[in-house]
Amino acid sequence: MRGADPRVVLGLHRSRHERRLLTGALDLGVTALDTSTNYLGFRSHQTLGRTAGDLLPEFTISTKVGYFAGPGGVEHSLDPIRLHAAVEQAAEDLGREPDVVFLHNPEHSVREAAPHHQEVLAQAFAALDDATAKGLCAAWGVASWDPSPLLSLIHTTVAKPAVLMVRAGLLVGAGTLDAADTLTKAWGLDGGHVWGMSPFGGSTSAPVWARIDPRVFLRDSSRLTRVQSAFRAAYHLPQVGSVVVGTDEPAHLSELVGALAAEVEERTIQEYRRLLRNRSRGQPT
Ligand SMILES: NC(=O)c1ccc[n+]([C@@H]2O[C@H](COP(=O)([O-])OP(=O)(O)OC[C@H]3O[C@@H](n4cnc5c(N)ncnc54)[C@H](OP(=O)(O)O)[C@@H]3O)[C@@H](O)[C@H]2O)c1
Repeated sequence: MRGADPRVVLGLHRSRHERRLLTGALDLGVTALDTSTNYLGFRSHQTLGRTAGDLLPEFTISTKVGYFAGPGGVEHSLDPIRLHAAVEQAAEDLGREPDVVFLHNPEHSVREAAPHHQEVLAQAFAALDDATAKGLCAAWGVASWDPSPLLSLIHTTVAKPAVLMVRAGLLVGAGTLDAADTLTKAWGLDGGHVWGMSPFGGSTSAPVWARIDPRVFLRDSSRLTRVQSAFRAAYHLPQVGSVVVGTDEPAHLSELVGALAAEVEERTIQEYRRLLRNRSRGQPT
């Protein structure tokens, strides 16, 4: 099965931010970077601006706000004033306005904000909407590791994100996949505006990857490795147009780009999701 053209976004969460990675990405046609205010010990934006400022115009850049360096360590906040200031700071440190600014894991703070959590989330959304309207970024979105707590809160929010980023791939549970689908529908997002992240759950050397063969999800898997197949399947779990993946190795990125042409067997994906749902409900698989 083929959807819209799948896009690779290079995620910088675990990255050393080496220039050779960025030039390698451009050579491969990977022109989207995803970072965050808090990556590289809160120095990602400045490091990119300083060491690769000349390369940045060739990329689209997404970043995230919501984590702040506080006196007691890293803290999460949905305070609209802090969020707005963080977007301004991101543009200044990068030397350009980001293409997308995500609200980073809002589920972190909305739980603590009960019973005012709907209001707090709406104000955070409004802050990013306002920053976008002022031209501090081209669009705003929500990046959520655990979107389930957001489901009951989104009806009262007036502003809607233009992009949703959620976990994707074979390690994502039924509840998270269903929550991602529900948010996608509620916000009226098409596949191009839904991004998957962390397709390997942060590591390709975790024992789980030696125990499964993701090639079963592809129509013709004969030429792809297990890593490539897991990456390609991630575009369908849930259905996303872009996958944000981390690597410090241009050769690894090249392998991932090489997987994009493979076709995914949608029936196998649907069967897998049915098994996941049954398992989460304690029903026989
Ligand atoms: N809540 C959020 O907003 C959130 C949370 C998590 C992640 N993210 C985004 O998603 C991005 C990716 O997530 P992630 O880094 O946590 O996890 P990931 O992409 O699932 O895994 C990254 C790991 O996969 C390895 N890898 C990649 N391609 C490979 C290949 N071809 N062969 C062998 N190993 C390969 C990399 O090792 P090598 O360096 O050795 O290639 C790296 O250690 C982040 O950078 C961030 O942008 C966002």
